[in-house]
Amino acid sequence: MKAIAVRRGSDEPEVLEKPRPEPQRGEALIRILRVGVDGTDHEVLCGAHGGFPEGDDHMVLGHEAVGVVADSNGTGLRDGTLVAPTVRRKPNGEINEYFRRGEPDMAPAGDYVERGIVGAHGFMAEYITSPAEYLVPVPEAIGRDGVFVEPASITAKALEHASATREPFQWDPETACVLGNGSLGLLTLWKLTQSHDRTYCVGRRDRPDPTIDLIERIGGTYVDSRETPVDEIPGAHERMDLIFEATGYAPHAVQTVHALAPNGVGVLEGIPDSWEFEIDGGELHNELVLHNKCLIGTVNSHVSHFETAIDTLAAAPSWLLDELVTTVATPDDVAPAFVDDDQQIKAVVEFAER
Ligand code: NAP
Ligand code: BGC
Ligand code: ZN
Repeated sequence: MKAIAVRRGSDEPEVLEKPRPEPQRGEALIRILRVGVDGTDHEVLCGAHGGFPEGDDHMVLGHEAVGVVADSNGTGLRDGTLVAPTVRRKPNGEINEYFRRGEPDMAPAGDYVERGIVGAHGFMAEYITSPAEYLVPVPEAIGRDGVFVEPASITAKALEHASATREPFQWDPETACVLGNGSLGLLTLWKLTQSHDRTYCVGRRDRPDPTIDLIERIGGTYVDSRETPVDEIPGAHERMDLIFEATGYAPHAVQTVHALAPNGVGVLEGIPDSWEFEIDGGELHNELVLHNKCLIGTVNSHVSHFETAIDTLAAAPSWLLDELVTTVATPDDVAPAFVDDDQQIKAVVEFAER
């Protein structure tokens, strides 16, 4: 079967011929339909994030997938069911407390591998196998848009954790701002329009630009961070009850605190490299304390977040998901899926239509 991988020492995806995997006990065989590419995949390709499976000279890419159960192998799943696989697996197959509790997304580094990202082969192949407990059924109506379940689950976890921090008091958020006009940012912006009166999205692009058009179609206000740095958003627009950072631009983590309204919460998603810059630590500390502000980080997601994501996608207008998908590549010509220019939002590799 065909699989798209990166070899050690390379930063280019390559098509490999690999044997079709055999499901072990408790595992199902999945025929992959679509696999998405996100900012993390680019970070993995250039060696800035993740790592190869131990002892292998390559890693199959891909962690956002939708497929069909091809062989349920006695797992209780039904052949033909659409599924989206979660990303984290036990390291060396060894159980630990996080997996035992069904919270692998809360495990620290070393206590998990991530398929297609760190220490385990990913989903960008004609077939994959997975323990059934990590395969989340996707309704037929969502179909191949099930490729958005994993990214939407990242948003679901982030919003769940952010609102949990505001639970002890009456919090009625009206304004929300997404930092980043990539695929994660734009999908999250739509989600936030459903619960906030006014939404904003920060980028650093000139018009005309397809992501600015989409921000406005979604109903958000575009903010250019070259003209309005994030910490100046309150002066130029208004203060934000919720900020969702999806740029990986490290100064945004600090600027977020200054753009928040009193009692607001900022959620960080980006995974930057080491990045030194000057900050006024006293002012930051003071701002967090005297205004009851909260800054949290969140990574990965698990089954319950996949289920929430499925509800989100079921409610999303089809034009949104259509507009987000800018490239549908085939395994025979995969290069267009890894082009990272201003026209690209979400590229997918399609292995089969159904
Ligand atoms: P992406 O497609 O690379 O999008 C990032 C966007 O941020 C780009 O549109 C980029 O604009 C914009 N940006 C970067 N610096 C900026 C700045 N200074 N001002 C304004 N905009 C800026 O990545 P993605 O897939 O949406 O993911 C976003 C980040 O979240 C990545 O770092 C990714 O690794 C991370 N992530 C984390 C998790 C998690 O579990 N924590 C899950 C998924 C993704 P230009 O294109 O114009 O440069
Ligand atoms: C993936 C998550 C993963 C994170 C860190 C994200 O792009 O969607 O599943 O935990 O990267 O590797
Ligand atoms: Zn991702």
